[in-house]
Amino acid sequence: MSDILAIYPGSFDPITNGHFDLIQRSSRIFDRLIVALLTNAEKQPLFSVEERVEMLQEVTRDMKNVSVDTFSGLLVDYAVRKKARAIVRGIRAFSDYEYEIQMALMNRKLQPKLETLFLMPAESYAYISSRLVKEISGRGGSVKGLVPLLVERRLRKKIVSTIDEV
Ligand code: PNS
Repeated sequence: MSDILAIYPGSFDPITNGHFDLIQRSSRIFDRLIVALLTNAEKQPLFSVEERVEMLQEVTRDMKNVSVDTFSGLLVDYAVRKKARAIVRGIRAFSDYEYEIQMALMNRKLQPKLETLFLMPAESYAYISSRLVKEISGRGGSVKGLVPLLVERRLRKKIVSTIDEV
C-alpha cells in the first residue's frame, strides 16, 4: 500500500494559528501533506507569493512529512498531478459550510476519485481568519496568539512599510 498524500490548499495570506492547527492535525493523519498555495487568486493579497511560501516553510520546518508548494489552475488537476488521495479543508463555523460544501462537491464532480476531508481547528481558533487578522493588524491592533510569532512580526513590518509609503 502506497503512502497517503493529502493536499491542504489555500491562500494563506497570511497563515494563522488556525491554519497551523489544521496542518498539525493533518500531518498526524496522513503519511504526507502538501500545503499548497494558490498563486493566481483573484483577490489582491497583502503578502507576495514568495513571502507567504517563506512563512509557511518556516512554521512547518520541523514537520518532516509536510512540504510547501504553489499551484495555479484547478486544484483537482494539481492534486492529480501530485497523486494525492485527499484534499483537506478546515471548517470553523456554519458560515464556512455553504462555500466549502459547494467547492467540495464541484471538485468531486471534476475528479470523483479525490475526496475532500473537513477538519475542525481547536475551538480557541474557531474565530480566526486571515481577513480579520489583516484588518486588526492594519488598524494597529494586536494579533498576538492569532498567528505564529514570525507572522506577527512580518505583519508589523508590513504595516510600518505601508505607513512609510504614504
Ligand atoms: O484560503 P482560501 O482562499 O479559502 O482557499 C481557496 C482555494 C485556494 C482552496 C480555492 O479557491 C481553490 O481551490 N482555487 C483553485 C481554483 C479551483 O480549483 N477552483 C474550483 C474550485 S471548485
